Order: sequence, then C-alpha cells, then structure tokens
Amino acid sequence: MRGPSAAHDLELTWPGKYAADGSRTRPNGGVEPLRVIERFPGLAGAFGNRLVAGDNLRTLPALLAELAGRVDLVYLDPPFGTGDAFHLQRRMGRMSGAGAGAGAANRADGPDAGTRRGPAAYADQQPGGLGGFIAMLAPRLELIRELLSPTGSFYLHLDARTVHAVKLLCDEIFGAANFRNHLVWVYAGRELARRRYNAKHDDILFYTRGRTWTFHPERILEPLRESSRRALSRHVDEDGRPYVIRYRDGGGFAGRDQPGRTYRQLVPAGTLPRDWFTADYARKSQRTGYPTQKPEALLARLIAASSEPGDLVADLFAGSGTTPVVAAIMARRWLAGDASPAAIAAMRRRLLATPEASGGFEVAALADAMPPAATLDLVIRPVPATEPGDPSRVRITGSADDLQAVVAWAIGTREGEPGGPFVAATTATRDAWTGELTTDLPTDLPAGPATELPFGSADPVRIGRAWTASGTATDVSIAR
Ligand SMILES: C[S@@+](CC[C@H](N)C(=O)[O-])C[C@H]1O[C@@H](n2cnc3c(N)ncnc32)[C@H](O)[C@@H]1O
Repeated sequence: MRGPSAAHDLELTWPGKYAADGSRTRPNGGVEPLRVIERFPGLAGAFGNRLVAGDNLRTLPALLAELAGRVDLVYLDPPFGTGDAFHLQRRMGRMSGAGAGAGAANRADGPDAGTRRGPAAYADQQPGGLGGFIAMLAPRLELIRELLSPTGSFYLHLDARTVHAVKLLCDEIFGAANFRNHLVWVYAGRELARRRYNAKHDDILFYTRGRTWTFHPERILEPLRESSRRALSRHVDEDGRPYVIRYRDGGGFAGRDQPGRTYRQLVPAGTLPRDWFTADYARKSQRTGYPTQKPEALLARLIAASSEPGDLVADLFAGSGTTPVVAAIMARRWLAGDASPAAIAAMRRRLLATPEASGGFEVAALADAMPPAATLDLVIRPVPATEPGDPSRVRITGSADDLQAVVAWAIGTREGEPGGPFVAATTATRDAWTGELTTDLPTDLPAGPATELPFGSADPVRIGRAWTASGTATDVSIAR
C-alpha cells in the first residue's frame, strides 16, 4: 500500500507506482515468446550466448522463465533521458576485394577521414522528465533483479542528472543493505562549458543481490604512483621482487631483519581499487559508430572484478554490444538485448568481427521487434579460381548503394520449415573503422553451371543473408 514500508523510512514515488486502489503496481509478467531467428556457429553449452531483440520489459518475462537466478553480473546503461535522438555515425565506407569500385561516392580516404550521420540508432525521448525516466526504469529493474544469482552483482550506469533519484529507486528494489558503491568513471575530453563546471564523469551504482558476492580487487589494482613505487622499492629480494620491511609490533624500531620482529612485505603491483577511476572513451579501433558507446576498458574492469570465467553476464540496454564483446573476450557467457534494430545490427556485426566471440551465439526476437526484410539488389556468385587448387570462394556483388548498405553477410542454411532460423556457416563483416567490407568468403559450394539454388526448402540448401546498419536483413540469391 501507499507510503514508506517499514524497511524504507524515505520513499521515492513516480507516476504509476501505485494503482487507483493504493496497491503497488507490479510488472504484468505476461510471457511473450522469443523466436530464434539466427544461429551463428559454435554455440556452446546449455545456455550459449544470446542476442535478444525487443523492449526489455517485454523480453524479460521469457528470459526469466529460463534464467531466473542464473545471471552472475548485470550491467545496464539505459538512455539517460536526454531528450535526444541518436544516429549512427558511419565511416564513409570503402570496399575491399572485387567490390572495391562500388560506393565510390561514399569512399573514405583513410582511417582518419570523417564520419557522417547514418540511420537512426535510438531515441532517448522518454516523456515525463525524471519521473517518466524512473517510471520506465522501475518495472524493468524489478524484473532484472530476479535474473541475478544469489551471489550476483548489478551495475547501473547513470549520470549526475539521474543518479540521485535512481539511487533511492535501487535502494527500494535491491535493498539499501545491498548497496556497495557509487562508482565514478572520470573521462577526458574538451572542456567547453563557461557558465558551470564541465561534466567529466558518469556515475555507476553497484548493488549485489545478497550478502555474499564475487569480488576480485586484485584483478583491477590501480597502478602505484611512480614516486611511491620508487620509495617502496629500496629492497629487492633474491627473486628480484621489491619489498618493504614491516615490524610485527609497535614497540619502537626493531633491527633490520631481526628474527621475530620484522618481516618482508612484497610491494604490491598496485593499490586496491578506489570508487573512482579514469578510462578514456572508446579507442578509435573500438568505435562502432553507435552513439553513446562505452569503452571496453570500463566493462573489462567491472567484469574482471565481479565475475569468473564461464559466468553469465547480461546487458539488456546493450547498444553497440560493448558488454557482450568484452564478456566474450574475457571467456564469460553473455546475454545482450536491445529494442533498437540498429543496435542488434551493430552487435551482430561487432560480435562476428570479434574472434573471441567465435563460441557462437543465437539471435532471438519478439514477433514485432525486427523490421520487415529489405529488398536489396545483391547476389552471391562463385569466384573462378585463378590457380589450380585455389580454395573455392564466393563473392557478394550488387548495386553500389545496396552493397554500401551491407554491414555483414553470411552463407548458411535454413533450419527446419520455411521461416525457420538462418544458420550461418561462414560470415563476413564491414570494418567499422575503415569502412571496408569483406566481399569474398570461402565456400565448399560445388562449381557448376549458374543456377539459382532454391530458397526456403526443408532441405538444408545454402542461402545467403545480408544485414544492414539500420537493422534490416535480406536473403541473397546464390548463383552458380
Ligand atoms: C546508452 S545506450 C547503450 C550503449 C552501450 N552501453 C554501448 O556501449 O554501446 C542505451 C541503449 O538502450 C536501448 N534501449 C532503450 N530503451 C530500451 C528498452 N526499453 N528495451 C531495450 N533496449 C532499450 C537503446 O536502443 C540504446 O541502444
């Protein structure tokens, strides 16, 4: 009922928190099916890795049915309620291989050339100001808490405009006793504000599901300042490790190495982690063109501290996929979701371009989450061998504009009935930074007269599929 409970002497309210009869509203919990639409090779284990397309309020009940209490680490970076509409930034792409002539009008001169505004990524236009933002977040956090394992950790990335209200919300949902830290990520960048202080940090709230949790400070030590390192490194042991001499009791000075009174303490590689840290924005080589992308170093820090290899890491506002990519690199399993088809496209492309993610993944979607298939003028053809014994290859070709739209493509098979999941055998991606698309793929397609392979047959015939930055997919004929 309305009002602070015994556990909360202070209460945050928001539009929709209480029903007309004064009872507390809860997420409706109706389970909508998630349909697997694509599989990429190497799927491992009972729960492999999964990309989920759709509003997380609607995908969470289905995820909970499978994964309640099984996620070890959740990181969320929701839109901050800025009122902005974000667009993809894209390199003016170049083609590699045979398609190199295509898209010349959009060609970049090199990796340092500029970006241009691409398709819409997502709109951060939650109505209702801060109250609307909290009303959006509250039911999602209530469900996400249920995903966490008993020793799980939860990180929520915010900024100074939202963190104070959201702290109260999280205290209510996760329990104030489970609040561990308010982390401050300090970043560099140009200072332009002249009428107030320049905002140079984000805020990350850290909660745990319960009273015991995974935490490895030794994996994220802060480097010692050079002056401290010099001061602490006057003694070096037989193995070349610096140490300081410590005294066992406080009773005055003991003689150096006096038995029983002094001991050697190795100088640590760094100091224990603080609740603030610096990490630069995503390096150029990491940039995907997806707006508000977070640096891999930030996620690496949280994942290293709060999970073990093999643990399941989830991000349900995953954007460009920084969390699943870092989780894959660090040998964790992952679950990543987003409501924006452009985000799903960015993540698919980025994961396919990450060798460590070759453990495989599948893409599942709510029925209305993905846009209708695009009609693109593309075809995949065998490449005639130039030398006897050359491996067989196929090449994607098409109109310059349509080829330019492609961010990833694959050849594979369709599983089961027409409309069943596409199962990729080999995949190629466009490099987000250079803009180059790999246009050739190895294949075991038999050489032969040029015929179109049938589509949608129950037989596992090969089909091609291409994906665009805005999130559309299109099946591509394979000619032979
Ligand atoms: C700030 S961005 C995340 C950026 C991400 N951390 C990265 O490194 O790329 C927020 C994301 O939340 C997604 N989003 C917003 N509302 C959502 C919802 N209701 N369900 C799922 N995703 C949502 C947006 O599409 C956007 O991609």
